[in-house]
Amino acid sequence: MSVIQTFLSNMLTLEISEKIRDCGVIAVIAIDDAKDALPMASALQKGGISVIELTLRTPAAIDSIQIISEELPAITIGAGTVLTCDQANQALSAGAQFAVAPGLNPKVVRHCQSIGLPFAPGVMTPSDIELSIELGCKTMKLFPAESIGGINTLNTMSAPYRHLGIKFIPLGGLNQNNMGTYLQSPLVEAIGGSWIAKQETISAKDWNAIEASALAASSVVKKLRK
Ligand code: 3PG
Repeated sequence: MSVIQTFLSNMLTLEISEKIRDCGVIAVIAIDDAKDALPMASALQKGGISVIELTLRTPAAIDSIQIISEELPAITIGAGTVLTCDQANQALSAGAQFAVAPGLNPKVVRHCQSIGLPFAPGVMTPSDIELSIELGCKTMKLFPAESIGGINTLNTMSAPYRHLGIKFIPLGGLNQNNMGTYLQSPLVEAIGGSWIAKQETISAKDWNAIEASALAASSVVKKLRK
């Protein structure tokens, strides 16, 4: 990667990190029909959530990213479950502003850096954290956060690396009741989860339910950060 590419990629990462931190909650989405993308994202926005991780787990995912990025510029749209370099290219072309994955694939990390797509790899062990730091990724997805012991595990596992300024986005098993335990930690940039807009709720086009759960989640962020 050239010096200019590195500079641009870092600039972008900083800007996106700020947007993710300001929102505090990322709605993780699996969507079956791209026609639902706009009303779903609007419901989240009305409920105070402006960051979406749209997972590449359904055929409608890339079109949905494109629709949201074109129609709702106030939404920060990211691609989730990015497992290959080709998926990273497709996500970037569709308008994704960041990407995440459940795990850490150095090939995909390096590719995202080379195309200027901010990427948060998934980590669940100290070795994962060290590899992520070595690859230049200081924001990591902690996955699956609840199954590996939640905030206590995060605190213990990250202690040796805190002086390096790393940040985490815990995902996996989070919900309205436990999200606050993570958000109180200065190590946590934001939390995320699929409970806010479940796949079946999107398919049922229950936009009121999605807005209500977005509002409940964004209220926790406001309360804890006021
Ligand atoms: C994911 O990538 O699926 C996220 O980590 C969401 O996990 P959750 O469904 O437990 O919220």
